[in-house]
Amino acid sequence: MSSETTTAGRVRLRPATLADVPTLQAWDREPHVIACSSDRPDLEVAFDGIDWPEELAESSDVSFYRIAEVAHDGLWRPIGVMQICDPHLEPTHYWGEIEPNLRAMDIWIGDPGTLNMGYGTQMMTLALHDAFSDPKVTAVVIDPLNSNTDAIRFYQRMGFEVVGRRMFDEDDCLVHRLTREQWEART
Ligand SMILES: CC(C)(COP(=O)(O)OP(=O)(O)OC[C@H]1O[C@@H](n2cnc3c(N)ncnc32)[C@H](O)[C@@H]1OP(=O)(O)O)[C@@H](O)C(=O)NCCC(=O)NCCS
Repeated sequence: MSSETTTAGRVRLRPATLADVPTLQAWDREPHVIACSSDRPDLEVAFDGIDWPEELAESSDVSFYRIAEVAHDGLWRPIGVMQICDPHLEPTHYWGEIEPNLRAMDIWIGDPGTLNMGYGTQMMTLALHDAFSDPKVTAVVIDPLNSNTDAIRFYQRMGFEVVGRRMFDEDDCLVHRLTREQWEART
């Protein structure tokens, strides 16, 4: 998988580092980030209080994070993050039995002031270009909560199609897939 920084327009994706931990922790307390991580209304932090230093330290070629930054007055400002993995090879086996040569992605914009400005579309486009630049990759899968209708509309606008509903632990998700053929037909 690529570890390069990729840029499109005013958005770039770069590797996440330990210096990003305070920003990631602050984003985990944003209500819209909590809501995309769980259907439980009582939570005060997203992703079960993920241990970011540990999570970033365990990043590898098969599972890693990208920070999205937007150029503003000549400076790059972080606005969101993507997790990208090979679901067949990544060590937690979150996806269970799954074929090789896929990528799984997650995306969230942390700064609520930068939602609905087209940045998510640019982030996802960069990540999909990167994923499909590996000729072995046949498709990309995602698993939004079934309740996250805004994100589902966003993914479907990007070309993802529903595979089916599936529980991941306590999370009721609607799995989607974008095949290489669908991606190439769009681009
Ligand atoms: C899902 C998410 C990544 C999408 O990113 P985004 O930057 O908000 O999405 P975009 O701006 O590209 O598109 C969203 C909407 O803004 C509109 N839009 C796009 N460019 C725009 C612009 N320049 N100005 C105004 N609106 C714009 C789109 O048409 C779209 O409209 P829709 O709501 O009718 O579908 C983001 O909303 C997010 O982080 N949500 C919270 C976390 C989350 O749910 N993550 C997904 C977990 S599975």
